[in-house]
Amino acid sequence: MKKILITGGAGYIGSHTCVELLNAGRDLVIIDNFSNSKPEVLDNIRKITGKDFVFYEMDYSDRDKLQKVFEENDIDSVINFAGYKAVGESVEKPIEYYTNNVSGALVLLDTMRKYNVKKFVFSSSATVYGDPEVVPITEDAKVGGTTNPYGTTKYVIELILKDLYKSDNTWDIVILRYFNPVGAHESGLIGENPQGIPNNLMPYIAQVASGKLEKLSVFGNDYDTKDGTGVRDYIHVVDLAKGHVRAIEKADKEGNGLYIYNLGTGVGYSVLDMVNAFEKANNIEVPYKIAPRRAGDIATCYADPTKAENEIGFKAEKNLEDMCKDTWNFQKKLIK
Ligand code: WQD
Repeated sequence: MKKILITGGAGYIGSHTCVELLNAGRDLVIIDNFSNSKPEVLDNIRKITGKDFVFYEMDYSDRDKLQKVFEENDIDSVINFAGYKAVGESVEKPIEYYTNNVSGALVLLDTMRKYNVKKFVFSSSATVYGDPEVVPITEDAKVGGTTNPYGTTKYVIELILKDLYKSDNTWDIVILRYFNPVGAHESGLIGENPQGIPNNLMPYIAQVASGKLEKLSVFGNDYDTKDGTGVRDYIHVVDLAKGHVRAIEKADKEGNGLYIYNLGTGVGYSVLDMVNAFEKANNIEVPYKIAPRRAGDIATCYADPTKAENEIGFKAEKNLEDMCKDTWNFQKKLIK
């Protein structure tokens, strides 16, 4: 039976995608070095799905080990979630970010080529659009102009994939540009558990609600938005995971190509919308204060999700209440 190789499968988006792929009846080989995840996640994927998979604890950029994985398994496609993703840390550690994200992807692609595996789904990010000229953002909007090494690694890998496809059009490449993934699996068994103080809004709100952090700082209330706070396209991680099932189906179909899809909802919510929705959905207070703008932030960013709907039949189904409830359900289990 043909298997899908998932790199970084124990991570936040990787683990949710593994669940949806297993539920869809796919066979998986997962690799992870647990640099930003825990081994228990794998047991929880098994618990949720009642299914098993092949697992290797290893670095995805370890060429020798990776070759062994391809030799020991009948792999016919790859989804790459392995990558560092903290914006601030990337500014401090650019060499680590370019090495892990870009060199790692090159080792993976080179190994795929060696074993004649040419179906590849890549985790990209709305960050490649920089500060968008127009919202909602369509896939043909200008890319580049990233403001931190993390974002630049995503942009550079997209360029590499485009050149690779140009050189050999028997590849099937699907680039998924995620907007703002939030929430957790409804079981509360898997979710996002950032180490240290969270950078992203939702995990921060969850930790304020739980009492672990005292107050949310709202970074700026003087943007040109409805209430002055930043507007983003938050997408439930389970919806996002389902988008990968659609992407793999696209790569499986006859006819090679390089495809790019936004994965978002098409709706923008402000920081204060998020705070209010979280309080209402969970009947809990989230104290906040207005703080100065955060360097590198933009006012508004949300997707035009039409292309993914038309071409791969993907449409986000979960709403803001689901995102808030599932985030809190997972956070509460962490406290116990
Ligand atoms: C959302 C909004 C903040 C924290 C980043 C990366 C992107 C992607 C996702 C991932 C903004 C405001 C936040 C806080 C706040 N990368 N905010 N107080 O900046 O849209 O995207 O994460 O892995 O590449 O750039 O997401 O969640 O950090 O912020 O007011 O404590 O919440 O200013 O308006 P962002 P975010």
